[in-house]
Amino acid sequence: MKNYYTEQKGFYGKATPLELLEQYGSPLYVYNEAILRERCREMRGLVSYPKFRANYSIKANSNIELLRLIRQEGLSGDAMSPGEINTLLTAGFAPEEIFYVGNNVSREEMQYAIDRNILTSIDSLSQLKQYGSINPGGKVAVRFNPGTGAGHHEKVVTAGKKTKFGINLDHLEEVKSIIKEYSLKLAGINQHIGSLFMDEDIYIACAKALLEAANEFEDLDFVDLGGGFGIPYHKQDGQHRLNIESLGNKLTLLMNRWVKDYGKEIEFKIEPGRYIVAECGVLIGTVHSVKENYGIRYIGTDLGFNVLTRPVMYDSYHDIEVYPSKTGANMEDITATIVGNICESGDIIAGNRKLPWIEEGDILGIMDAGAYGYSMSSNYNNRLRPAEVLIRQDGSNLLIRRRDTLEDLMRNFVL
Ligand code: LLP
Repeated sequence: MKNYYTEQKGFYGKATPLELLEQYGSPLYVYNEAILRERCREMRGLVSYPKFRANYSIKANSNIELLRLIRQEGLSGDAMSPGEINTLLTAGFAPEEIFYVGNNVSREEMQYAIDRNILTSIDSLSQLKQYGSINPGGKVAVRFNPGTGAGHHEKVVTAGKKTKFGINLDHLEEVKSIIKEYSLKLAGINQHIGSLFMDEDIYIACAKALLEAANEFEDLDFVDLGGGFGIPYHKQDGQHRLNIESLGNKLTLLMNRWVKDYGKEIEFKIEPGRYIVAECGVLIGTVHSVKENYGIRYIGTDLGFNVLTRPVMYDSYHDIEVYPSKTGANMEDITATIVGNICESGDIIAGNRKLPWIEEGDILGIMDAGAYGYSMSSNYNNRLRPAEVLIRQDGSNLLIRRRDTLEDLMRNFVL
């Protein structure tokens, strides 16, 4: 199997994976600037509608340098917590470029956004009352649940009948009366149906449901249709990309028609996370052992689930490339289970995977790891979170987050 994706993209620029690991330590998150910019442009240009804004959902990856590039490409930001708001502000986003889509937030967290003039979306009737009581007469947005969701795993379907998110569409009257009670100005309504759809029709159907609800409110400034745009994780098997052009055309039609009936050219927003950053990131790490346990070949690496949680959390699949340490080794393919160095037997990156021959010292590249990779990493087993490096468009590389140190692990103890 060829290392098709990274070769084709010139992913590592002027360096080799080995050189990068020698310089920055193993494991390592590597991001490619050109791919990041390309994805930003696709999302920004998704529709032909004059007032359209793509809010990058920074939970997918909140590295400040990447955020700066994303802002340069003209995207705004979507935050889930004061920590994400603070990161966006630090990266240079203005308050009006930030949309705070919280869930079960505290009064202090609401106040944090209010003090910074950041528009907040509220996703329950009880929180709408709380918000009204601390910011009467203020602007607010409301998150609805259209009753249908989508996603690659039940844990990330964020609309529909079995999720904590949003306000049911049959509670519209209650929303109106709370808005009135506290003299709030409803600036917009939003939804997010879930993470990773490859079929555009589900997104369009849910957009229609939200627009129907939007008709119930006068003088909205915006409608936010949410994120969830999928990427092909099975590129080595030839999986197709989401058809952005067709999705964009359908959305364009829907938006233009709807505003005509509504009588106001409102703004439309989307909240892509994964689509922007997944494919610009590869996680590279080192093979430290090869063993056979009762008939299963285990490839032992430093890529534990503290570094990349997705395979363990959602059974997610990531393509893997093998960079052999010995050139000229022309051995047969193997079927193996790729594991990390964490003290749990569930610490599996890829089970029963057919791969080129692998031996100690080889380097593995875990593809499409830019989204929900570093941002979900941890110090479990007191392991150090890896460094992050950007491959710039001229092929040079730049350290954009240093690797944890042992001192970092001690920082918050009261010694
Ligand atoms: N907007 C809201 C309100 C969200 O909750 C999310 C993601 C997004 C936008 C961005 O969704 P995206 O475009 O990235 O699908 N950790 C999981 C994904 C969790 C997504 C949570 N919400 C994973 O690794 O697959």
